[in-house]
Amino acid sequence: MEEKRSQAPARELLPRHIGIIMDGNGRWAKARGLPREMGHQAGSKVVGEIIRHCRGLGIPCLTIYALSTENWKRPKREVDALLSLLRRYLSNMEEYQRENARLCILGDPEPLPRDIQESIRTAQAKSAGNTAITVNIALNYGGRAELLHGVKALARECAAGRLDPESITEEDIARQLYTAGQPDPDLIIRPSGEQRLSNFLMWQSAYSELLFMNVLWPDFTPEHLNYALYQYSLRSRRFGGV
Ligand code: IPE
Ligand code: IPE
Ligand code: MG
Repeated sequence: MEEKRSQAPARELLPRHIGIIMDGNGRWAKARGLPREMGHQAGSKVVGEIIRHCRGLGIPCLTIYALSTENWKRPKREVDALLSLLRRYLSNMEEYQRENARLCILGDPEPLPRDIQESIRTAQAKSAGNTAITVNIALNYGGRAELLHGVKALARECAAGRLDPESITEEDIARQLYTAGQPDPDLIIRPSGEQRLSNFLMWQSAYSELLFMNVLWPDFTPEHLNYALYQYSLRSRRFGGV
């Protein structure tokens, strides 16, 4: 069956936060006899359309997994191509301003090239006052690395005598994550047919609804998102209750 729908469900049935694991760029390119980099280029073109669609539907938060802490294992040529795309993406903030979208980067920027770190700072500052939608880009992001980063911060608070180890709460952990202050993702979508989280939002996904789709990310359209939202609207969320 085709995983598309022309209409999204009614507003009250929509998630408040969607996470998307953009996957399948390499396979999209391979199927066309193209280098993997071309798949990433095609995939990057889809992002704007999906942000616009979410914004139009009134979804307040979207997280997009763009580069994992494990993706550095890829050949240098591919990593360089991904970084160039990110460089270009982050330097063009017109779309964000037009869509009244706030950009927020999840992940440790330290290992990224200096100019990209600078673009991240500028882009976040420039869009900080935008209110229609928050777009998180998970960049050099890993759920375990994020927890480790948060645990170290809490350990420092304890060492400084500002926090009692015995009284650490789940809220303390959440406030030390890159997503501090944001709602947990209600729905996580992974295109490409792969059925795993690959270190995406490990803490925050505890009760997320998961949807695995067969479409490759460069072929993903607003109609595919409508289909995902429709599937989400059929789910019964219990959070451990009855
Ligand atoms: C996802 O596409 C993009 C990134 C990981 C940056 P892939 O490059 O993983 O595509 P496949 O999984 O090889 O098809
Ligand atoms: C997850 O995709 C990371 C991103 C989409 C950025 P991968 O393609 O890297 O995941 P695995 O290796 O198939 O688990
Ligand atoms: Mg992949």
